Amino acid sequence: MKEERGVIAGIPGLVHGSDYNPEQWIKWKEKVWEEDMRLAKLAGLNSLSVGIFSWSMLEPAEGEFHFEWLDEVMDMMAANGLKAVLATPSAARPAWMAQKYPEVLRTPENRVRNLFGQRHNHCMSSPVYREKTRRINTELAKRYQNHPALGMWHISNEVSGECHCRLCQERFRKWLQEKYHTLDALNEAWWSTFWSHRYTAWEQIESPSMHGEHSMHGLVLDWRRFVTELHMDFLENEMAPLKQYTPRIPRTTNLMATYDELDYNRFARIFDIVSWDNYPGWRGESGYDTETACRTGFYHDLMYGLKGQPFFIMESCPSAVNWRQYNKLLRPGTHLLQSVQGIAHGSDSVSYFQFRKSRGSSEKMHGAVVDHEGSENTRVFGEVAQTGKVLSCLSVVAGARKEARVALIHDYQNGWGLDNLQGGILENQNYMRTLLEHYRIFWERGIAVDVVDETCSLEGYDLVAAPMAYMIRENFAENIKNFTAKGGTVVFTYLSGYVNDTDLCFLGGFPGPLREVLGIWAEELDSLYPEDKNAVEWGGCSYEAYDFCELIHAEGAQVLGTYEKDFYKGMPALTCNDYGKGKAYYIAARTGPELLRRLYGRILKEKRLEPPVTLALPEGVSFQSRADKGAVYGFLMNFTSEEKAAELQGETVLLPPRGTKVFIRPFAGEHPVEAKLRFLI
Ligand code: GLA
Ligand code: ZN
Repeated sequence: MKEERGVIAGIPGLVHGSDYNPEQWIKWKEKVWEEDMRLAKLAGLNSLSVGIFSWSMLEPAEGEFHFEWLDEVMDMMAANGLKAVLATPSAARPAWMAQKYPEVLRTPENRVRNLFGQRHNHCMSSPVYREKTRRINTELAKRYQNHPALGMWHISNEVSGECHCRLCQERFRKWLQEKYHTLDALNEAWWSTFWSHRYTAWEQIESPSMHGEHSMHGLVLDWRRFVTELHMDFLENEMAPLKQYTPRIPRTTNLMATYDELDYNRFARIFDIVSWDNYPGWRGESGYDTETACRTGFYHDLMYGLKGQPFFIMESCPSAVNWRQYNKLLRPGTHLLQSVQGIAHGSDSVSYFQFRKSRGSSEKMHGAVVDHEGSENTRVFGEVAQTGKVLSCLSVVAGARKEARVALIHDYQNGWGLDNLQGGILENQNYMRTLLEHYRIFWERGIAVDVVDETCSLEGYDLVAAPMAYMIRENFAENIKNFTAKGGTVVFTYLSGYVNDTDLCFLGGFPGPLREVLGIWAEELDSLYPEDKNAVEWGGCSYEAYDFCELIHAEGAQVLGTYEKDFYKGMPALTCNDYGKGKAYYIAARTGPELLRRLYGRILKEKRLEPPVTLALPEGVSFQSRADKGAVYGFLMNFTSEEKAAELQGETVLLPPRGTKVFIRPFAGEHPVEAKLRFLI
């Protein structure tokens, strides 16, 4: 059964892997490669990602391919029972290529082409670069299509950035022409009559730039959308030979959950599975790590939500990274804890950057499975090997899904709109922080949340929370209305329903197309100085309000809370509107967690939204679960450096500092087969 579910054929359970750069050690391969295999197996790895930055070793001169070393690596992996996550090398290119064809290099926003160097330094439009990537990928796919080690394709690496060269400008204009057809339509959508910026020829349009146009919000927004589409188009070109020769081998690319310049909800569509690079900034101190744990949980849920299916952790570090201001060691047990957290939120893998520490260049001090010392006798190797053992105990979880009845709307394009917004609080409207504050209420209670965007279907949810839904895209308002009318509960906040998807303000009163369902009109937005405070009075309790206070009028909605101070004292600050069979809440001010806790507490009770087991969690302990047809898998994780006691099904479960417990509860249909929980670890 399980065998069929593994994403990588031949790995029925969870994947435990690492980025592996054997080509850096090619001169010493007799000694090093064999030792790598021994150490990989000893660490409990079952896969290695190879070829990510190998182009100059695969094609050292134009058209001259050297696959012998990779053949050897692939054979060696197959002989040792390791699967290859084989990369396409487009994230970094050989020097000869940049020298001969400068157009392959990227041109930043200042219009001065970069020199050779770094990585992610390519133009996505360059016909030469497209041809070169297509060619090498064809060679790779043809050569390894039947290789027993080939398990998955790793496309490029951490795709990011933008190019402003002439070729990219031309593509942008073409993209705009396809979208708007006429300049008139474009001028209207971008409100270009403002400051006399009307375009009279397509050639006049330039990508946003700090020494050119950056104030026209519609342009900035469309450029971001175009950049996402351009990367997708480039990658589709890269992937064509892989689809042709290896149609059954899944394709992924490693995302960065903290990166918001691509619309990952669109981007992820072209891949079979989402994977991401998970580097939480653990401090090893209780208070701080609860925050980091919650944030990381959100990122995992965001990654799950991109395709609504289990994902991969493609990179993580069992020790200190090298790119933080302070590269603190992970405290003992932290690596296992962060790995179990990923699995708990829906990852089917734990993989590393990097297997063996490189000897030179910028990442030589980055944590790895194998240290410069070279043996298995290091603390970090021990942590990895222990993680390997735990992952094999958890192999039954692979493929199990997350079952969430709460959707939290996180929308990249809405985030871009809020970044553009010149109004409110210019320094930062704090969209992400607000989402995390809402997310945390559910996280603390062990209630599963799907993080999805405005285009997502709302089918199957009971509660949809959409804080700061400033931009209302496509059918979102319609979906929200239908969802609420049918009995769903929605929660919106200040700064919702201001602009449409070309960043034009809704006329006729905010929150625009949500005015009817929310039963309110938001007349004005007050943005407070950091030292200013207001408060919301709700049923005899007072809740601090800061940053944003919207002045709203109830138009049918019931007023639950009102402002306590200032000239808008007594005006509504928290409302609930009955709409069809459902309810629509509006929080007009930014408040602390207490108000959110009370509000969501009430909704959760009303909608009977509970974790799949009875639960009481102390601060810093998280509960998540996954399920498949036969069982629920529950994960308890202590993110503090103290022992904690959680209540589970009426029993006390002790969790050591940074400790985890995972149980399985078999089900027959709706009913648990056993009353008692069985612990896997
Ligand atoms: C990213 C990259 C890796 C490596 C790590 C270091 O995730 O994909 O190649 O540079 O960062 O943390
Ligand atoms: Zn370009």
